Amino acid sequence: MEEVHVSTHPLVLHKLALLRNELTEPKKFRELVREIAQLLFYEATQDLPLAPLTVQTPLAPAQGYAVADRVGVIPILRAGLGMAEAVVEILPTMHVWHLGLYRDHETLQPVTYYNKLPAEPDIDISIIVDPMLATGGSAVAAVDILKRWGAKQIKFLGLIAAPEGVQLLRTAHPDVAIYLAAIDSHLNERGYIVPGLGDAGDRQFGTG
Ligand code: PRP
Ligand code: URA
Repeated sequence: MEEVHVSTHPLVLHKLALLRNELTEPKKFRELVREIAQLLFYEATQDLPLAPLTVQTPLAPAQGYAVADRVGVIPILRAGLGMAEAVVEILPTMHVWHLGLYRDHETLQPVTYYNKLPAEPDIDISIIVDPMLATGGSAVAAVDILKRWGAKQIKFLGLIAAPEGVQLLRTAHPDVAIYLAAIDSHLNERGYIVPGLGDAGDRQFGTG
């Protein structure tokens, strides 16, 4: 069983409070999503394998390292887009494969409307990014799709989760490590995380 990592980093906690604030405008909200995603990505990539290499500095050869595995980021549209753009800035060699899922407002079940994965897996590690892990339905569906595709090592990177979502994802896919900034109290009757931050897609894109 992989672990659930909830960040205790002061910068993450500081930025998370700003992100939750209902007065935070979309421009600032997007900026905070990017920054927190980068900090969590740093934590989620601590175990990436390295290959040694030599580079030439202006003075002498120096021993260095390169990330050895091919890493892919899979944003769940649309709210995962800002997180994907942020982590690609840190590791520009990453492949980005988009998955379009939305929650049906009545049933809360995920509906797949877009899948841009290539025919064969071309990455060693798949990192799903989506700010909200609420019922967990979307995350479980995304992992199902990746496993059917042939992905071997999968991680989930989110900002805020409900206990229900963590439980569902862990039960369905115990081999997926989960990285979060917070686990909140509960889901309300409409499937929103409480206290959460509201609708992550609407707040990033100024809709709703
Ligand atoms: C949100 C969020 C997750 C999903 C989480 O997306 O970004 O993908 O809900 O809920 P779940 O854990 O209960 O499945 P939404 O359906 O609002 O789509 P959007 O990103 O296009 O706004
Ligand atoms: N999706 C969101 O954007 N927010 C929630 O609280 C739950 C699902």
